Amino acid sequence: MANNLLKGKRGIIFGALDENSIAWKTALKVKEEGGSFTLTNAPIAMRLGTINQLAATCQAEIIPADATSEQDLANLFSKSMEILGGKLDFVLHSIGMSPNIRKGKQYGDMNYEWYLKTLDISALSFHKVLQTSEKLDALNEWASVVGLSYIAAQRAYPDYTDMAQAKAMLESIARSYGQRYGSMKKVRVNTISQSPTRTTAGSGISGFDIFFDFAQMMSPLGNATAEDCANYVTVMFSDFTRMVTMQNLMHDGGFSASGITQDLVARLSK
Ligand SMILES: NC(=O)c1ccc[n+]([C@@H]2O[C@H](COP(=O)([O-])OP(=O)(O)OC[C@H]3O[C@@H](n4cnc5c(N)ncnc54)[C@H](O)[C@@H]3O)[C@@H](O)[C@H]2O)c1
Repeated sequence: MANNLLKGKRGIIFGALDENSIAWKTALKVKEEGGSFTLTNAPIAMRLGTINQLAATCQAEIIPADATSEQDLANLFSKSMEILGGKLDFVLHSIGMSPNIRKGKQYGDMNYEWYLKTLDISALSFHKVLQTSEKLDALNEWASVVGLSYIAAQRAYPDYTDMAQAKAMLESIARSYGQRYGSMKKVRVNTISQSPTRTTAGSGISGFDIFFDFAQMMSPLGNATAEDCANYVTVMFSDFTRMVTMQNLMHDGGFSASGITQDLVARLSK
């Protein structure tokens, strides 16, 4: 049921690759709630993914941008304002990639060029998005910018390798830029720390099925799905959360606050 939560709001959604993507589900939800937006992804992802279908469903234009390129980002923000008819009210940064994880590198055998790429794509790009929008004065007062994080920012997971540092940096950028943008223009910046979710990025982590099941057993509500995450992002874009900023918001069915659960005790006592 739609409530017009985002009626009249304009924005940009990064990172819809295919129908499993958290950004894909978010685009559908934002559309349903009356928001209008442009879609963007890295040029290579456009060729591999199915973003055209989403664009047709949402009547949204696609503007390719590599999120590590300041030039691409400046073009994206300027064109988005032009197409949508004014300054923006929301931005979703739903971007993550680690060449080290892709190539199955262990944490004791990192390729440092790739390590820097991981940080650039998955974390620094969040700063670039914010700095570009500030320089172009592209965001309205009370606009909401959301990035997606994972609990490996706070706790060690052996196979998450350099992405753990990327997520810690992403959350830190949300605090620092949130403080700056909040006092300058009342713009809000937050990250949402999402449960393991079956997407291209998620399933790329080795052992994903095991920690998906573990998180499921450790979460009183179960793992939050991509649809649940889309709902949360939509609320974070709405005026109902206008005083929330500089936060890392746990969206994990209670996982992060659980020591052990009955489910896990039952499984381990078998
Ligand atoms: N899937 C999970 O288990 C999980 C859990 C917590 C957080 N997250 C985070 O959610 C976000 C979205 O991931 P997802 O799970 O929907 O997977 P996904 O693979 O569908 O999305 C990742 C997106 O990043 C894009 N991307 C990669 N390099 C880029 C670049 N240089 N410029 C622009 N875009 C680029 C990809 O094209 C893709 O669309 C990521 O930040 C991810 O780390 C995922």
